[in-house]
Amino acid sequence: MFTISFGSAFSRTQNKTSSAIAVVVADDKRLPDTKQLGVHAKFLSRALANANFTGKKGEVLTLVNPQGNPNYYLIAGMGAVKDINALRLEETGGSIAAAALAAKIAQLDIVAALAKGVKLDAAQAGAHLAFGAKLRGYRFDKYRTKIKPEDKPKLKSVVIIAAAADKARKIYAPLDGLAESVFFARDLVTEPPNVLYPESYAAECRKLAKLGVKVEVLGITAMKKLGMGSLLGVGQGSVKESQMVVMQWYGGKKGAKPVGLIGKGVCFDTGGISIKPSNGMEDMKYDMAGSAAVVGTMRALAARKAKVNVIGVIGLVENMPDGNAQRPSDVVISMSGQTIEVLNTDAEGRLVLADCLWYAQSRFKPQCMVDLATLTGAIVVALGSARAGVMSNNDKLSETLSAAGERTQERVWRLPLGPEYDELINCDIADMQNVGYAREAGSITAAQFLQRFVNDVPWAHLDIAGVAWADKPNALTPKGAVGWGVRLLTDWVEHEYAK
Ligand code: BES
Ligand code: ZN
Ligand code: ZN
Repeated sequence: MFTISFGSAFSRTQNKTSSAIAVVVADDKRLPDTKQLGVHAKFLSRALANANFTGKKGEVLTLVNPQGNPNYYLIAGMGAVKDINALRLEETGGSIAAAALAAKIAQLDIVAALAKGVKLDAAQAGAHLAFGAKLRGYRFDKYRTKIKPEDKPKLKSVVIIAAAADKARKIYAPLDGLAESVFFARDLVTEPPNVLYPESYAAECRKLAKLGVKVEVLGITAMKKLGMGSLLGVGQGSVKESQMVVMQWYGGKKGAKPVGLIGKGVCFDTGGISIKPSNGMEDMKYDMAGSAAVVGTMRALAARKAKVNVIGVIGLVENMPDGNAQRPSDVVISMSGQTIEVLNTDAEGRLVLADCLWYAQSRFKPQCMVDLATLTGAIVVALGSARAGVMSNNDKLSETLSAAGERTQERVWRLPLGPEYDELINCDIADMQNVGYAREAGSITAAQFLQRFVNDVPWAHLDIAGVAWADKPNALTPKGAVGWGVRLLTDWVEHEYAK
């Protein structure tokens, strides 16, 4: 990945590496009004007048400069002037980074100046362009020992050229911490399951202690004592020991009830004895993405010393078939005391979350809880990869999460809950069964199951099965692990709860 810095003059010194100057324009194609463009302004305005370029969002025109130095100009579109805000600048920064990577540019100067009439100052623009470029530049090359030199990314340095470079640098600092936290989550999701299993995952979480997060890890002895039969049943077929990681960031008012974040951390989901088909099973390494969003958010809040009290509880297990694995029709006793008939061992996420939710609410008395989980294939059918599903017992919670989703473009869509769905998991031999009899309303019955463990605490469940992994890149994410939820939750917590 490349370095990001801020300056007030172009950084190109020599012509040995491939260099570029990037500018941003709205769909009125007016060039930024800045002296910094200097001699380049004439070339750029001539290109804008002649090129097939409309300035819509996501569009980037890559021009070769026959005179060299810079070797390229990039002109990036931002869409309509009225739509230009911090987020749009981030998306534009992401598109510029993608174009620079594709053109094998090594040294990139992005001019953070906007045409007159755009209501965002250059320092803000610079910081958000940088944030977007950084997010889009993420790579995971740890296990690739044979990348050909020509396939190695060439981009080494991105310099944001802004009149108020100091101010831009200051605005950027907390965004850089957020990007690092998104990367932390992406790394966790991308790591293969032979490397990232419950104990090694818990060890990664302990790294948050450096930032002031209190981290506790419960192993199976402690969880048995607490009566977490629901979570433990899922992990009992694995040779890897199940873990629960409890994180606390108390940066807010003393005595203020914390916000609770709960995550599904199934490090690999074979389905267990209700085994999944082998085709596509490899996707199930990202069945811990909900927990990664929780860890990433805790990291982000701690890194920026957010004035808020937050706890994170994640359940880490591996769901395997084995002589000791749980069987369809086993009955387990959850920490809440409620009994569950496990009719399908592949509906394991709700079994893990049941004990996490109960533990979180009984120990910490949170003012609200949000859980994140790659919980159902049904949500992928319903909403695809554009939005996560939200199901909640509280309208305000659902609305504030939706609003944060719009601000960050990690968007959600609400699905209903209700007694007519809840009754679908009633059971003849236990208090409930872990799947409905028919496949109808699969995402909702999963949420109804969870609701039986929240004890009336205001709660929202985010089903992120469709959004956690991207099959194609978008403005802020290369393809692969999205780190979905870190930007959403950090924004939501700060917006609603930080004082
Ligand atoms: N981890 C899966 C859900 C999933 C599907 C995540 C696709 C990511 C992408 C979950 O544990 C599961 O297997 N759910 C079952 C539930 C069913 C047995 C009621 C499903 O959705 O098929
Ligand atoms: Zn499953
Ligand atoms: Zn699963």
